[in-house]
Amino acid sequence: MKICRTIAEVRAVVRDLRLSGQTVGFVPTMGALHAGHMSLVAAAKAENDAVIVSIFVNPTQFGQQADLDKYPRTEEADCAMLEAVGVVAVFMPSVEIMYPDGAETIVETTKLANMLHGLVRPGHYRGVCTVVTKLFNIVGADRAYFGEKDYQQLQVIRRMARDLDVPTDVVGVPTVREADGLAMSSRNVRLTPEDRSAAVVLNRSLIAAETAARTGATIEAIAQTIRDTIETEPRARDPHVDIVQALTLAPVSGRPSGTIGIMISAAFGPVDDPVLLIDQREITL
Ligand code: PAF
Repeated sequence: MKICRTIAEVRAVVRDLRLSGQTVGFVPTMGALHAGHMSLVAAAKAENDAVIVSIFVNPTQFGQQADLDKYPRTEEADCAMLEAVGVVAVFMPSVEIMYPDGAETIVETTKLANMLHGLVRPGHYRGVCTVVTKLFNIVGADRAYFGEKDYQQLQVIRRMARDLDVPTDVVGVPTVREADGLAMSSRNVRLTPEDRSAAVVLNRSLIAAETAARTGATIEAIAQTIRDTIETEPRARDPHVDIVQALTLAPVSGRPSGTIGIMISAAFGPVDDPVLLIDQREITL
């Protein structure tokens, strides 16, 4: 597996793959890889001849320096996992390479980035869109793979790619869960064993929501079911629920039809250093 630190190196890998007629799948990550990321790699491997992964903890999508500093960095273990499954190259640029002095161009989906989760993390999706646009331009893959767990991120990236006529297809991959249903996340390692057990309540609330939706409940009742379920777990704080139309993320009300996305979050752990977990479920009625 080739480790590429510069843009020229990764472009040379892609050029050689293209010259030998191979298709290229791309998985952008921020490292600290777990089974959720590896499911993106597996999806990419299934649909392309060669897979390239990037590992870059993108500073422009973090609101606070402290969150950026705390982000787990496990480069060696990440590379071992990727090599074991036959990834062709890993692109691991420095911040200076991705954002050279004087960089000032940003990419933003003006509506989708500034609603829902974007309201509590101003600038987050702008940072995501900017770095993903750059990575798409650098790698030039046929397809790129993103988890459905960050539902809003996936819709933002799809919209950006459509609006900017990006030639890379954006592919969404279903959330991978632990045996007890907790969605896999790089943040789970920060949970105490007690909070780790408590966090299963998020998936339980989504199961209850789906049952309610399929038995004819209104959006308001579905949202209440989620809140009530999360409230049964005293270690979960600040539950947040958004139920939206798929693709547009427009709010929905009344009795739902078509495809809806349910996005939830709750905080666990110490009040002064909480671990915010998100989860999601898309339901077609
Ligand atoms: O989902 C992530 O890990 C990041 O937001 C991404 C897409 C790699 C951009 O930095």
